[in-house]
Amino acid sequence: MTSTSTTPTTPAPDGFLWGAATAAHQVEGNNVNSSHWVDEHSPGTHVAEPSGDACDSYHRYPEDIALLAGAGLGAYRFSLEWARIEPERDTVSAAQLAHYRRMIDTCRRHGVEPVVTLHHFTFPRWFGRSGGWYAPDAVDRFRRFAETASTILDDVTWVVTINEPNMMVNQSEARIDTENGVNFPGPSPHVARVIAQAHHAAMEVLGRRGHVQAGWTVANQVFQAVPGWEQQRDEWQYWREDYFLEQARDDDFVGVQSYLRTIIGPTDDELGYGPQPWPEGTERTLTGWEYYPQALGHALRHTREVTGGVPMLVTENGMATRDDSRRIDYTTGALQAMAAAMADGCDVRGYLHWSLLDNYEWGSFDPTFGLIAVDRTTFARTPKPSLAWLGGLAKSNLLPLAG
Ligand code: FCB
Repeated sequence: MTSTSTTPTTPAPDGFLWGAATAAHQVEGNNVNSSHWVDEHSPGTHVAEPSGDACDSYHRYPEDIALLAGAGLGAYRFSLEWARIEPERDTVSAAQLAHYRRMIDTCRRHGVEPVVTLHHFTFPRWFGRSGGWYAPDAVDRFRRFAETASTILDDVTWVVTINEPNMMVNQSEARIDTENGVNFPGPSPHVARVIAQAHHAAMEVLGRRGHVQAGWTVANQVFQAVPGWEQQRDEWQYWREDYFLEQARDDDFVGVQSYLRTIIGPTDDELGYGPQPWPEGTERTLTGWEYYPQALGHALRHTREVTGGVPMLVTENGMATRDDSRRIDYTTGALQAMAAAMADGCDVRGYLHWSLLDNYEWGSFDPTFGLIAVDRTTFARTPKPSLAWLGGLAKSNLLPLAG
């Protein structure tokens, strides 16, 4: 064990990936052919504001990657946009593939490891119109997209097939409209199985390339039970999380995404159990979530238990706040919990912070998760102190330990 002036630390394993994450729709801007764009501009849309130009990262990604690398971080997780790469069914855009290939090359030039997500929530309009994940050929369409995408992944080691399938499936209700089909289907074992098949199909495609480490990422909600409600907690948890972890048992790695915990206990509704409200006085983040950095430790331990020890990569963890020093506190707590889980044998290969940039949080720009602020009019980037702080840990490859 070593120590810095303030916090005790321990070395991370050699080759540990330190980085930050984004997703195409949240940062690129003008993702006009995607399902979410349609939704944002539908009459009566539930979103507070549309994504618009977002962070204009479609054009400014070289600056984003340079800032990440300059701070000392060594990995960038970003996603490919299916709606750009396959704008119409069976029409592949070579120019858009070349765009994403340039992003990979830019990472390489900066010595940054690209972690590439094939699908992060959004899909093309035509896929939505044909029923989205309810379409009879959904698995085949995704397999084909994975084949197309894999043509630019020759030297890419880390690939995520699908981001948070459990959040896609478990949105409270399917929104079905005649123009665009089904977007974000509701909690449905059927859709869960379809998405799992799509994942396995993509794994097979990527596996054929030999060099790729592939997996999907799961939103870990750290379900805890009010004493006596453990069985209901387990039932609540299965189709919202554990089914998706079980599907990762044979994968190269599983992405762990952690922000919060959810306490399951009695409710007044028909089901009679569900998430409990946070007690009065609980510190909340800008997304309304409880400030609970130790969630990451629980998430890693639970993931290990359900998958049986598949290597883990923290693919998202962070906090929406206007107070950057609180972001550093939160991340310190999360990294301490991760270090403790690793000391107990959890095999964690890296930590990718959500997010590199303040971005479009699926309906609003208000919840600021970024290590870098983005001016909404000029798109000027301003690194926050947390970027240099996390980069400092990365450069020394040291994890903070609980004091
Ligand atoms: C996750 C999403 C990511 C981001 C964070 C805050 O569920 O994968 O895109 O919105 O939450």
